Order: sequence, then structure tokens, then C-alpha cells
Amino acid sequence: MTAFVKIVYGERTFELPVIMGSEGEKAIDISKLRQKTGLITLDPGFANTGSCKSSITFMDGEKGILRYRGIPVEQLAEHASFKETAYLLINGVLPTRKELNKFSVMLNDHSLVHEDMQLFYHNFPRASHPMGILSSMVNALRSFYPELQTLEEEINITVTRLLAKTRTMAAMSYKMSRGHKVVYPRPDLAYCENFLNMMFDTPVKPYQIDQEVVNALRVFWILHADHEQNCSTSAVRIVGSGRVTLYAAISAGIAALWGPLHGGANQAVIEMLADIAESGGKIAPFIERAKDNKDPFRLMGFGHRVYKTYDPRAKIMKKMCDTVLPRLKISDPLLDLAKELEEAALKDDYFIEHNLYPNVDFYSGIILRAIGIPTNMFTVMFAIGRLPGWIAQWKESMDDPNWKISRPRQIYTGPTEMDYLPIDKR
Ligand code: CMC
Repeated sequence: MTAFVKIVYGERTFELPVIMGSEGEKAIDISKLRQKTGLITLDPGFANTGSCKSSITFMDGEKGILRYRGIPVEQLAEHASFKETAYLLINGVLPTRKELNKFSVMLNDHSLVHEDMQLFYHNFPRASHPMGILSSMVNALRSFYPELQTLEEEINITVTRLLAKTRTMAAMSYKMSRGHKVVYPRPDLAYCENFLNMMFDTPVKPYQIDQEVVNALRVFWILHADHEQNCSTSAVRIVGSGRVTLYAAISAGIAALWGPLHGGANQAVIEMLADIAESGGKIAPFIERAKDNKDPFRLMGFGHRVYKTYDPRAKIMKKMCDTVLPRLKISDPLLDLAKELEEAALKDDYFIEHNLYPNVDFYSGIILRAIGIPTNMFTVMFAIGRLPGWIAQWKESMDDPNWKISRPRQIYTGPTEMDYLPIDKR
């Protein structure tokens, strides 16, 4: 039986249907609101607005649950490969061995990047941020790989190209930033190993694959693979709704992810911890600044729009710091500082009352540092991990029979009509 919500406006009462998701989440369907009542809704930051129905990722922010296509992220982090996780998100089900092999072959076949693209890298100013470069390069891919014959082929090949080439382009930009020779992808290596080899292999010191490092990267990428309608995913869907190419939509997602309130927080956390260390390691002044609403400083890696408890991804990251660093024989003073900061914040009334807990970015930078990733590439690592999610969400929006171009409305608060004044009368 359909439930309804009644809206009383003036003399009239309107009924709007309540719809329910498979996990019991409820929403008022306002799609006919303006037509029926002449009203729109106002919801800054879309904190109360569902932008779509989706069967990809489920989050429960109160209980700290995250599942991809129904499977708890903890299980995927324990058992799955990143490639399997990407397949699951994009295709809706886990691959059979045959399907996974075919997917691997396709990824290998498309992992090279057009040699002419290297010229772009050479011409970016030295100080360019890798996220700006990646966003531009992904958009530029369309010029190098023009449209294919059929829509199905276009989607399948574009998806594969993005998954395979973005990883190559990220490693390539690192090599070029160091003035080193580019290392090409190797078909004999699995997804994570291949990336690490492209990043760290040099003619004088061949890269030795370390399973501990490979595993840490696998888990990092799986934990970042999707997170329902966050800022960058919404950017991908909104930009995609104008029917741009998938390259352009993903490029928009990368640009959105770059921000320090979103994916850029992993870089910002390490910079904040380094600032604390440099200023003598005292936590209290930073906590006080974060609580002062006149000070724009926030505790980076803390807080989340959806999670009002410990982010399940942060739990795994923290545990991983405790196992991976000792196994790699690394002692990172920033890890001790991060733990001290967490402990102090979680005891503080402000953080308790505001439900502020560590999010995925709080400990992820410590792992990335430990595996040798430079700080300015942290958000690029997030972007490679998030690609399958962006692609799955874009595909879902394209297949939606109720598809519409994204075009929110507004409440206008500017001047009412007035006449143009000639310049000498102003
Ligand atoms: N430090 C101090 N105060 C905070 C923080 C923080 N990190 N996060 C939120 N608050 C306070 C905020 O000042 C506000 O207080 P009041 O109600 O007294 O004015 C209240 O908590 C609610 O904050 P909000 O900004 O309205 O919440 P939001 O849902 O719009 O923002 C957030 C979520 C993630 C942008 C925010 O928590 C934040 O800026 N965190 C730091 C940046 C960060 O770690 N971002 C990574 C997010 S997880 C990775 C990803 O998926 O992007």
C-alpha cells in the first residue's frame, strides 16, 4: 500500500507519495510538487534531497555500514581483488573466472597511452598539481580515441580505456615530474602490481614487488571504489546528464574530488599533521582552533555528511596502519600524532556533540606515505580507486528510463526589475 505525506498550503491539502528503498529508507516523492502546488523545495548542499534511485551502493551513516551491490565493504577488502570489485560495481554482479579473465585481457589491451599525450605532460608548468593534470588528460583522451561505431562498443571500450589508462597516466605524470623515463604497463602483472611497477621501477633499481605493499594498495582502492551520491559522483551524474562523453563526465568528477573538503582531504590531513609536528607536536591548540566557528580551520579527516559514527573505511585503514607499517619496518611519527589527535578529539564535548569521527582520509595518507606515494599524488590515488564507482553511477544514470537533464531551480533574491542607466548617469 502506498503511503502519502500531506502538505497543507493555503486552503488546499496535497498528497505526495512516500517511496521506500530495499533497506527501508523512505523518501517523499516531490517530482510533481511544483506542478501540483507551484512550490519548489530549498535544500542547500542537498542534505535532505535524494537525487536518484540507485542499486549500486548502500550506506547507513548511523550504523556505519557500507556495501557495494549488497556486499559489505569489509568482506571485499578481506577477500576480493580491486578488479573484481570494479567489475562488481560496473556490472552489478561478481564476475565468474571466465568473465574476470576476459576483463583482465581487455584492461591489458587498453593500458597503453598514445605517445603524443606525453607532449601534454612536458608542457604543464612544473608546479602543476597532479589532480589538475589528470582531470585535463582524462578529458583530452576523447581527442585521441574518437567515437566508436556502436553505442554498446563505445561504452564498453571507453569504460575499459578509462580504467586501464588513468592508472597508466597517473604513474606517467609521477615519472615525468621527477624527470625520469616513463615505465610502460606490463601485461604479465596484475592491476595493483602493474601500477606500482610503473611508479617505482627505474633502470638502476628494478622494482621488487612486495606483497604487503600490493595488498595495502588493493585495500585502499577497494575502500575508495564507491560512496553513493557524494560531491564528485554527483558531479559525474550532473555533467553526464547533459549527454557529454564519459571522458568529460569523469574529468568533472576528478576536478570535484580535488577539493580539500572531499578527496583532497587525504593530502590536507598529512599537511595538518606535519604542521602540528612542526609547531612542537601540541594537539590542544589545533583542537581549539577547529572548535572556533570564527576560525575557518577544521580538523581534516574528521566529520562526514552521512556518517554520524566511525566511518567503516577509516576503521579498516587504522587497523591497516598498525599491521602494514611494522611489516614494512616503517615507524611514522605522524601515525602516533594522528592517534593522539583522534583520542583527544573523541573525548572532546564539541566533537561528541557534533558526531565528528575520523573519516576515510584520516589514516589513508599514512598508508600511502608508507608505500612511497608522494603527498601531492594522494588524491590521484583516491581518483583511481573511485573510477569504477563513477563509471557505474554514470552507466546507471544513462540507463534510467526516467532520465532527465539535471537542472535545479532557485529562489531568486536579487533586485526586482529596474531600468538600465546610461554610464554618465550612474
Ligand atoms: N572540524 C571541526 N568542526 C567540524 C568538522 C571538522 N572536521 N566537520 C564538521 N564540523 C562542524 C561544523 O563546523 C558544523 O558546526 P556547527 O553546526 O556548530 O556550525 C557542524 O560540524 C556540521 O558541519 P557541516 O560542515 O555543516 O557538515 P557537512 O555535512 O556539510 O560537511 C564535511 C561534511 C566532510 C565537509 C565536514 O565534516 C568537513 O569539512 N570535514 C573536514 C574535511 C574532510 O575530512 N573531508 C573528507 C570527507 S570524507 C572523504 C570524502 O568522501 O570526500
